Amino acid sequence: MLTDLQLPAATLIHGIRLAVLDSADARALAAAYQRNRAYLAPWEPLREDAFFTPAGQRFVIESKLALHGAGSEVPFVLFDGERIIGTVTLTGIVRGPFLSANLGYWIDEQYAGRGIGTAAVAAVVDTAHRRLGLHRIQAATLVHNTGSQLVLQRSGFGRIGLAPQYLKIAGSWQDHLLFQRILDASM
Ligand SMILES: CC(C)(COP(=O)(O)OP(=O)(O)OC[C@H]1O[C@@H](n2cnc3c(N)ncnc32)[C@H](O)[C@@H]1OP(=O)(O)O)[C@@H](O)C(=O)NCCC(=O)NCCS
Repeated sequence: MLTDLQLPAATLIHGIRLAVLDSADARALAAAYQRNRAYLAPWEPLREDAFFTPAGQRFVIESKLALHGAGSEVPFVLFDGERIIGTVTLTGIVRGPFLSANLGYWIDEQYAGRGIGTAAVAAVVDTAHRRLGLHRIQAATLVHNTGSQLVLQRSGFGRIGLAPQYLKIAGSWQDHLLFQRILDASM
C-alpha cells in the first residue's frame, strides 16, 4: 500500500535531505551507527555487534522495507551529501478507527543542536498527515531526555502521561513520558 505512495526526497535545512530508506543505504547506515554508537547507547535498546556492520544493516533494512511494503512502517533517513546523519521512523501504523503511528528518531552527535531534529520531525509529521492520512502520532521519551522533549513540543506534540517501565532501553525497563499530536484536530 505505502509503496504506491510517492514520498519525495525533501530538503530540510542546511542542505540536509530527508528520503525514504533504500536497500542501497546499508553501508552508510552502518557507518552512521558506528560513529554514534556510544552517543546513542543511553537512548536505545542494547544492540548486537552485528547491528553496526553493513551486513547487519542490510538485514535490518530488508525487514524495515518489508514492513513499509505491508503499510505498517515508513522509515526515513537524513543525508548530508552521501553521509547518513540520522533517521526518523513511523512504526506500528494502524488504520481503522485508530489511524495512528509511533514516531522514533535520532540525529548524529556532530549535527546536534542545529534544528535538524525539529525540522525532520515536522516534515515527517506533515507526511503522516497529508500523504498517509493519519489521525494521530505518538512518541515516547525517557523522562530525562530533555532534548527530545523539546523537539516534540516544538513540533506540536502534547504530553499525555507517564508510562512506567514502558521500553527496555540500555538494558533496563525504563519509565517514559508519552506525547501525542492529533493531526486533523480541526476536522
Ligand atoms: C533528541 C535529538 C533527536 C535532538 O536532535 P537535534 O537535531 O539536536 O534537535 P534540535 O536541534 O532541533 O533541538 C534540540 C533542542 O534541545 C536542546 N537540548 C539537547 N539536549 C539537551 C539537554 N540535555 N538538555 C536541555 N536541552 C537540550 C538543544 O539545545 C536544542 O534546543 P535549542 O534549539 O534551544 O538550542 C538528538 O539529540 C538525539 O538524537 N539524541 C539521542 C537519541 C534520542 O534521544 N532520540 C530520541 C529518542 S525519544
